[in-house]
Amino acid sequence: MKNETNTEPKFSTKTSVNAEPALLELFKDGIMDIYWAENHLVTNLPKMIHAATSSELVKTIEDHLEQTKGHAGRLEKVFELLGEKPQAKKCDAMEGLSKEGEGIIESTESGTATRDVGIILASQKVEHYEIATYGGLTQLAKTLGLDAIAELLYQTLTEEKAADELLTSVAEHNINYKASEEA
Ligand SMILES: [Fe+2]
Repeated sequence: MKNETNTEPKFSTKTSVNAEPALLELFKDGIMDIYWAENHLVTNLPKMIHAATSSELVKTIEDHLEQTKGHAGRLEKVFELLGEKPQAKKCDAMEGLSKEGEGIIESTESGTATRDVGIILASQKVEHYEIATYGGLTQLAKTLGLDAIAELLYQTLTEEKAADELLTSVAEHNINYKASEEA
């Protein structure tokens, strides 16, 4: 890539022609990152299900696990539309969020509402990361004129938002109250 130390004019046509492939590369990189994250969640959510106590929370995470498998499948469709083979790139953020969730399980007692509250907190951080990612990628797909891909990403974005709201309602329903009663 040319920089200011080069003799080439800074505002040449060539620069703007090169801009779109760079943006497309950035987009593909983001897709590979969230593909890794979704697959990581498929292996990580069962630990959360196993650690949770409230049947309502267990059911919520179980349902989201199925949804997450669908999100990974939807991303495979995105790769297909991009003419690429599905490829995962390690997502450091999701790895960190998962470790935080595991840390909460290790530091709380099994069978307590306090642990359930911790699992909800960790799960909502994951949802917000996914909402930010899918929101940004949907917008980027639109900018790049990839409308069919934008539509697929938007579907997942909607499901992530619903999952986040469901977790809030599970917490408000009775778990937070129960946890506040625990010594
Ligand atoms: Fe997801």
